[in-house]
Amino acid sequence: MASVQDFIPQPYTETTDKGSFTWSAPSNIALVKYWGKKANQIPANPSISFTLSDCKTITTLSFEKKKSTGGFSFDLLFEGQPKESFRPKIEKFFERVVQYLPFLEEYHFIIDTQNTFPHSSGIASSASGMAALAINLMSLERLLKPDMTDDYFYQKASFLARLGSGSACRSVKGSVVIWGNHETTDNSTDLYGIPYAEVHDVFKTYQDTILLVDKGEKQVSSTVGHDLMHGHPFAQQRFAQAHENLTAIKRALATGDVDTFIKITESEALTLHAMMMTSLPYFILMKPNTLEIINKIWQYRAETGVPVCFTLDAGANVHVLYPENVASKVLAFIKAELLGYCQNNQYICDKIGTGVVFVG
Ligand code: DP6
Repeated sequence: MASVQDFIPQPYTETTDKGSFTWSAPSNIALVKYWGKKANQIPANPSISFTLSDCKTITTLSFEKKKSTGGFSFDLLFEGQPKESFRPKIEKFFERVVQYLPFLEEYHFIIDTQNTFPHSSGIASSASGMAALAINLMSLERLLKPDMTDDYFYQKASFLARLGSGSACRSVKGSVVIWGNHETTDNSTDLYGIPYAEVHDVFKTYQDTILLVDKGEKQVSSTVGHDLMHGHPFAQQRFAQAHENLTAIKRALATGDVDTFIKITESEALTLHAMMMTSLPYFILMKPNTLEIINKIWQYRAETGVPVCFTLDAGANVHVLYPENVASKVLAFIKAELLGYCQNNQYICDKIGTGVVFVG
């Protein structure tokens, strides 16, 4: 397992003046949630997620050697237009990672990003965005250090992505990724995400239909949200529970135990929101329509036996998770009964995916 020290590079053997790369990186949806962190983006508990396939960020990183070094220099484009509002986040990211990527001060960068999902859909783009940027930076580092192994390349990309946004470290690889020290998971680490390979066929093609209940700005930023776990009266129990749930969901994923998967996934979603409701200050991020959808899913599952369940992010949107072999039934149910609760009837069909892809 790599340590922080392993990601501080030895002097580079090669040089390069200019060039560009394009990578895509997907979003991911946590099953056992990351909620609470320590200094340096170290998670308070381990988490596990499905990497998604179609909701992704595509980022082109162009770089050109500067005349004088010192300080960071970059331009930001979002869907072809200058996007200055991203600057503080990228500046902070560069500050955090420069000790691992010393070349950052030597180049001028153009970071040109687009998302495949509609903006202001309420879908977090920080995971896919930071993963896409991190993997591009690794492509540049590999030019400077061509003998790097593939393992190092992807692990360090995940390590860097984590420093941009914690959950982003789970977007580099697919299809199921564990992030955070976990006693019974070999090679698990707080530093980067690792793929979990023991996945039964039923989960290999799992579907995620995202119901856009509320596309508004996030009420609680992730930074504020994670902070709520400091001094939270239930924090220690919650962190311990995440460890147990991870052990149990790993077993369910390996054996194809969909019932246990559903219980843990839904309980985790509600626990995340319960943590927000019981913190100070407190928040309710679900909307009435979020609850309507949850109740409809429970009713449909009880009546039909179709193993469909939900999970939630730190917001009102609902991720509907189900096996591929019931996809047509579930989609008919979603269209008939759930879309009325979505803003402008909007939803996004996604599924489990494989991680970052080199575009060119
Ligand atoms: C509720 O990864 O967005 O989606 O590390 O502050 O960028 P930062 O937080 P972020 O938090 C995601 C929280 C979550 C649960 C999860 O994805 O595990």
